[in-house]
Amino acid sequence: MSSSTQKNDSNDMEETYWNSAAGQKWVDFQHEMDSLLATVKDQLLTKTNIQKGEKILDVGCGTGATTRDSALLSGASGSVIGVDISALLLDCAKQVDVDPNAGSIDYLLADAQTHGFAEESLDVLLSRFGVMFFSDPVIAFANMARALKPGGRLHFVSWSYMNENPWFQIPRDVAIDQLGSVAPSDPHAPGPMAFADLERVSGILRDAGLQDVTATNEKIDLFYQGTLDAATYLACNVGPVMRVVKELGGKPEDVRAISEEIAERMQNFVVPGGLSIPASLNFYSACKE
Ligand SMILES: C[S@@+](CC[C@H](N)C(=O)[O-])C[C@H]1O[C@@H](n2cnc3c(N)ncnc32)[C@H](O)[C@@H]1O
Repeated sequence: MSSSTQKNDSNDMEETYWNSAAGQKWVDFQHEMDSLLATVKDQLLTKTNIQKGEKILDVGCGTGATTRDSALLSGASGSVIGVDISALLLDCAKQVDVDPNAGSIDYLLADAQTHGFAEESLDVLLSRFGVMFFSDPVIAFANMARALKPGGRLHFVSWSYMNENPWFQIPRDVAIDQLGSVAPSDPHAPGPMAFADLERVSGILRDAGLQDVTATNEKIDLFYQGTLDAATYLACNVGPVMRVVKELGGKPEDVRAISEEIAERMQNFVVPGGLSIPASLNFYSACKE
């Protein structure tokens, strides 16, 4: 952690999670995840409409796909800070080449909920799937908003509900069918689907002091470039399967059975060159007065 970070134990579980085997999976499958989520990145960056010279914070930047593209859009006079709580993912991000025409990039290992960012130093806060893991989202957004200049803006994308996102729903259902139910969890607890409720999240942004909040649900298709077997392997490694297997003590033969059934249920998504998987996403925006 950076020395200017005020330590708040409340995100310790997420810090542990993203620095453990689960975070390592995002590193191991970096190219496949970036390819699968490329359409999401492009939609987010279109909405963010980055201008040359802008100063940007990419929140929960992971292995840095959105950081690098934001730096290119902001040009040589712009700059991007990619902040993440995972040293594993940031180390991976730092090793990826950056376009010579891009603005400067700094990767910062810190908890975005509590880090002391320079006040009124940024034009844009953005995130692809990196803001749903805060123990206290109001405190987190208020903290990050302090770093925005007056008139600065926020754009991020999160997942909508599980039952609208087969990329999560199928592997989770199959793992539970194989191993039994996991304990029910609070739908608003930190996690990939925590920001599914547009009204609730809009309230969080307003409570954090942001203005002109917009929240829209959009249906898009994720494209997995590769075979059904490779997509199934990815789904067994990144996402809910490993969580369920770990929690319920699944054995290698369970994972094999889960994998076969996921492939069966994802068969419908196969198209020439890969898989086209429907997704339901929430895009949020807001401004600082
Ligand atoms: C689902 S991944 C998304 C990564 C990246 N934005 C992408 O789209 O590839 C969520 C990321 O948020 C990071 N994260 C979770 N809680 C965080 C926090 N409190 N502060 C900073 N980063 C956090 C995780 O380490 C992880 O890299």
